Amino acid sequence: MLLVLLKLLVAVSGISAFDQNDYSITFERIILQAYTFLSNEYQLFPIRFSVTFCDSLKSNDFGLREIVQPGNFHGCPLKKGIVNIYNWKPDPSKFPPFIPNGKYRLDLQFLHFSEEALFIYAYGTVSRPLGVFAFHQNDYSIVFERVEMYSYNRDYAKYAKVVTFKFNRTQTAYNASFELLKDVGNNVGIIIQAYNFLSNEYRLFPIRFCINFCDALASNEFGLGQIVQQGYFNGCPLKKGSINIYNWKPDPERFPPHLHNGQYRFDLQFLHVSTEMLVLRAYGTVSRPLGRRH
Ligand SMILES: *[C@@H]1O[C@H](CO)[C@@H](O)[C@H](O)[C@H]1NC(C)=O
Ligand SMILES: *[C@@H]1O[C@H](CO)[C@@H](O)[C@H](O)[C@H]1NC(C)=O
Repeated sequence: MLLVLLKLLVAVSGISAFDQNDYSITFERIILQAYTFLSNEYQLFPIRFSVTFCDSLKSNDFGLREIVQPGNFHGCPLKKGIVNIYNWKPDPSKFPPFIPNGKYRLDLQFLHFSEEALFIYAYGTVSRPLGVFAFHQNDYSIVFERVEMYSYNRDYAKYAKVVTFKFNRTQTAYNASFELLKDVGNNVGIIIQAYNFLSNEYRLFPIRFCINFCDALASNEFGLGQIVQQGYFNGCPLKKGSINIYNWKPDPERFPPHLHNGQYRFDLQFLHVSTEMLVLRAYGTVSRPLGRRH
């Protein structure tokens, strides 16, 4: 299970005593933009999304449903009058997945049509017991379609190749080979960006995260631990020489939770410190029994 310990220092009591009765509000949308604390300041972090307040209330995003309490706040539609939110505790399990460890500020802009009705800063810290992701899920299945070597940097690899083949009727497997030209040790990061297939094209999907390759190997994210096989690939630290990956099958149970049903492309950008070594593109489809969406 992905354990996110979220200490949200939302000034909950600070947002609890609005008092106005001359207009009613439909918060059409809330725009959330994340900032992460780095080098002594909050810097723009690539998480931005927009939700409809009343939908979020209904689907209990962030544990918001608990703000509805008889006598204080009746929920949607929002009517003219006093809204009191009392003793609300955000629910970390209802936050978006994939947020890397760190100190964050979330800017929440509440819009009524396109006018800003309210602006809230929320501060919090995300951490995990092992210091790394430990993905685990068993509510959806994935059909892994193929992995392509999109590009590679010839300063790092003499050749780089991935082959997708059918392991059996339902399962694909992968062979890969690289001739690594330098020692890169444990300093390989992977930036993963998701794209969702909609209206005939892959469109940017708001899932982006960065993991260290050697940490992911050690904690078996995606089933990556299985690529280490005697005689083919010895694992980390990564040394100059040939790396062969033989008959690897991704493990759907070691994928991030909460992925919605759909057809995805994940771009995996491998970086040595800050230089791009290679880019892989992986295609797959997420589905659930009974047509459940998430
Ligand atoms: C295909 O192989 C996978 C992995 O070994 C296994 O879990 C699955 O049951 C197999 N499916 C079929 C149809 O044989
Ligand atoms: C995968 O690699 C193994 C070992 O090198 C090889 O025997 C097999 O033919 C390869 N499969 C494909 C589809 O390239």
